[in-house]
Amino acid sequence: MDVRVVDHPLAAARLTVLRDRDTGDAAFRAALHELSLMLVYEATRELPLRTGTVRTPLTETVGHAVAAPPLIVPVLRAGLGMTEAARTLLPESATGYVGVARDEKTHQPVPYLTSLPDSLDGTPILVLDPMLATGGSLVHVLGLLALRGATDVTVVCVLAAPEGVARLEAEAPSIRLVIGSVDERLNDDAFIVPGLGDAGDRQFGTG
Ligand code: PRP
Repeated sequence: MDVRVVDHPLAAARLTVLRDRDTGDAAFRAALHELSLMLVYEATRELPLRTGTVRTPLTETVGHAVAAPPLIVPVLRAGLGMTEAARTLLPESATGYVGVARDEKTHQPVPYLTSLPDSLDGTPILVLDPMLATGGSLVHVLGLLALRGATDVTVVCVLAAPEGVARLEAEAPSIRLVIGSVDERLNDDAFIVPGLGDAGDRQFGTG
């Protein structure tokens, strides 16, 4: 698995705002959007281009366009806060949705929505979820994508626990993973430590 941790001063500053327990919901959403712009920028660095010609006001020169805009797949709810950033940078992309909530006691993923095209054969995919904790939610999402024939998948996360990275490495070795930070560990409630708390609750005021 290709794992890339985005190491950039502006990303580190946004991540600190997200971690800060005193950051309110609106500021949390803004920092998540801004950090997601940076993560998606890095995650799309190797996107294939179509080459053509562009006419400037003075002359003609070589121009480029994204050859196959990836399907954006936010994982509900928390992935919604990364979606607008991806759609801004990839305006030609379509968006699919997967809803999965982690059971608070068992920590197992409980799926509740799948809205994806029937065939993803040949379609690059960009999965968005701020948190990779045990990896159960993303393994579920990656299974749905594989069932539809997806082979070119990039997962973008703000924070990961080493346990979640190891699980994806074991179960989905061919994906790319772009992360803001790999934190220390999971605690007994399967929360990432030091982490940022619950990315869904902190965006939507449901904590
Ligand atoms: C969180 C988070 C991930 C998942 C990570 O979502 O956004 O989707 O848990 O945990 P895992 O790697 O152990 O599966 P949650 O289930 O809290 O739902 P929400 O996005 O609706 O808040």
